[in-house]
Amino acid sequence: MSVNDLAIVILAAGKGTRLKSSQAKVLHRAGGRALVEHVVRACAPLKARKVVLVVGHQAEQVSAVAELVGAESVLQQPQRGTGHAMQVARRALGSAKIAMVLPGDAPLIRTETLRAMLAAHRSGNAAATVLSAVVSDPSGYGRVLRKSETAVQAIVEESQLTGEQRELNEINSSIYCFTLEKLWPALARVTPNNKHRELYLTDAVGELAAARETVLARVAADPREALGCNTRADLAEVDRIFREWKRSSLMNDGVSMQLPETILIDPDVTAGEDTVLEPGVQLLGKTKIGERCIIRTGSVLSDAVLGDDVVVEPHCVVVQSRLDDGVVVGPFARLRPGTHLKDGARVGNFVETKKAVVGEGAKVPHLTYLGDTHVGPKTNIGAGTITCNYDGAGKHPTTIGKGVFIGSNTTLIAPVRIGDGAYVAAGSAITESVPPDALGIARGRQVNKPRWASRRRRELAAGGKSAPRRRKAKLRSRKKARRR
Ligand code: UD1
Ligand code: CA
Repeated sequence: MSVNDLAIVILAAGKGTRLKSSQAKVLHRAGGRALVEHVVRACAPLKARKVVLVVGHQAEQVSAVAELVGAESVLQQPQRGTGHAMQVARRALGSAKIAMVLPGDAPLIRTETLRAMLAAHRSGNAAATVLSAVVSDPSGYGRVLRKSETAVQAIVEESQLTGEQRELNEINSSIYCFTLEKLWPALARVTPNNKHRELYLTDAVGELAAARETVLARVAADPREALGCNTRADLAEVDRIFREWKRSSLMNDGVSMQLPETILIDPDVTAGEDTVLEPGVQLLGKTKIGERCIIRTGSVLSDAVLGDDVVVEPHCVVVQSRLDDGVVVGPFARLRPGTHLKDGARVGNFVETKKAVVGEGAKVPHLTYLGDTHVGPKTNIGAGTITCNYDGAGKHPTTIGKGVFIGSNTTLIAPVRIGDGAYVAAGSAITESVPPDALGIARGRQVNKPRWASRRRRELAAGGKSAPRRRKAKLRSRKKARRR
């Protein structure tokens, strides 16, 4: 069976008035992708000679999505209905003999269903084949009117239904195969005979049937594949279904989930066997997780790459970061882009990192900011350490060697280097590099005043001015003296 006579047309010019949005409908996202991208991806394995998108509203943005996945676009301006959209696509179809037409807003369609429909269209020598679905609530959809078990008489739009037809629950998915030499003359006979003054592609189906051409309808095995997203509620429903499919596929691959319906996973995410996801976890973008990891409740990972045996404690945010084998982070850690935690490293609570490499077995247990920083293996970063990487104009690096001990509440004013095995005393403001093996200490020296406290208590009991007030008075009189 030759497939080179096949072109695919995706109708994506509409605004989507019912969404009440400034964004074109097909750009809205569900299941982690724009609606139209789902449709193009479902068609890709059919290897048609061409995939043509009809674009109109936000044409540039919609075309850009199409190009990403190898489709070309034609502009329909203004949009005069689905039949008009087909006429606009005509020139781009070249010498294709069969067109598969899909709406850009029905993202749950699967490749196998399309393949089966195409095969039925070819083997039935049909002029048109409609993919239909039998649903419990057909409202909002065009209904398929049959003249026999297999043959279609017409498609009637919701607004044109007679009372009796309203009961029909076989709907038009808006997915069709057309034999083009039959479609064009039928489409030419269609008139904009409806309240929107649009040319309906559905009317061309009726024209073909009236001309005694073969018009078939195939019922989709899963009616959800015909779900079009006209409203926000439709979008939410489609998103829910995609997320459920993704979770099932990961569970089949050996990933455990607690309260799975609370877990949100994007389509490109992978996770290894025996990894556990707790409730309320989100795995986004191209996140890749190894085996036996635990991602605890409330954590959000986006484009993160995790090795094996990694623990992400509750409520962490990890973006464009790499966590090697045996790393433990959180709770409440924020790893920003460019973070790389090497084998066995630990990052604890209230720690923020950005463009930071933390070496094997190094620890950053609490309350720290590391930006543009390299930390060597086995180094310990004390609580409250801050790398001052930004001077108001540019960013500067901090390099901390291996086996270093940074005392608590240290500020490291970049650019600065701390050599291997060095110590930095707690509370230091480090402005100059510390050589290997040295102690860096940079803070005011402590002064202890013996018996100061008991003297003060005695003064207070005597009802005299408090010590600090007396000192202030003294300072004031000195200033006066200077002015004179
Ligand atoms: C359409 C069908 C209806 C079917 C339903 C399935 C028609 C007249 N009706 O109705 O029988 O049950 O889909 O979801 O076809 N578009 C264009 N150019 C236009 C108009 C629309 O490209 O001038 C695109 C839209 O962007 C959309 C698709 O065609 O992706 C379908 O249009 P939409 O307005 O959603 O049609 P429905 O009212 O849902
Ligand atoms: Ca629709």
